[in-house]
Amino acid sequence: MSVKLVNISKIFKDPDHPRKQIVAVENANLEINEGEMVSLLGPSGCGKTTILRIISGFENPNTGEVWISGEMINDKPPNKRDTAMVFQSYAIFPHLSVGQNIGFGLELKGAKPPEVKREVEKIMATMNLTELYNRRPDQLSGGQQQRVALARSIINKPSVLLFDEPLSNLDAKLREQMRLEIRRIQQSFGITSIYVTHDQAEAMTVSDRIVVMNEGRIMQIGARGNSGAILA
Ligand SMILES: Nc1ncnc2c1ncn2[C@@H]1O[C@H](COP(=O)(O)OP(=O)(O)O)[C@@H](O)[C@H]1O
Ligand SMILES: [Mg+2]
Repeated sequence: MSVKLVNISKIFKDPDHPRKQIVAVENANLEINEGEMVSLLGPSGCGKTTILRIISGFENPNTGEVWISGEMINDKPPNKRDTAMVFQSYAIFPHLSVGQNIGFGLELKGAKPPEVKREVEKIMATMNLTELYNRRPDQLSGGQQQRVALARSIINKPSVLLFDEPLSNLDAKLREQMRLEIRRIQQSFGITSIYVTHDQAEAMTVSDRIVVMNEGRIMQIGARGNSGAILA
């Protein structure tokens, strides 16, 4: 599914100075093709998370339009948008097993237990998680927890997957492994994805194109091959 942002702006009131405004996103225009993975790269506070929240429907933009698959979805509530978020905090339930965690979204949608089991086993095999079916989250490494969180987001087959700095809690070595893993999984499912990061190397590894942001604005968009040049 393609994603298109047209003239998106988001202005917040400054909580400490009610008369001051914070321009979180200013006139952002962006088109993401079906099956493509694009990174939003920029320093803390430049508006990356706000863009994801606007796409998923948790914030309304002050101006502009959000399109998914040729449909303008500004008025759709988050639960009707068919997007899924992957966060840095793992957001998996500590009291459920890995298998139950991954199947949770399908159960919520009313899928029958045999179907849930079948789908969970399928996705766990793809993501090299099969051995962990009965484990509890506290019996997993950080990387495994992140894979479970990703499996849980993917099992509902969202049209658009939104990653908000998913690897920031992991150590450097694991981060490098997980980048490649995320890329592999995104490619094998072909899910249109947006990957937010402040790490240039991460952006280059995971994405087809890099969108460079600063102070709420999209500064440049480049293929990953020439991102060194565009950032210089
Ligand atoms: N709910 C909010 N109320 C006020 N200001 C906000 C709110 N959410 C984000 N901001 C501000 O908007 C700007 C962009 O934030 P954010 O999108 O979270 O940046 P990033 O994800 O790139 O770090 C920051 O200045 C942030 O403080
Ligand atoms: Mg953020």
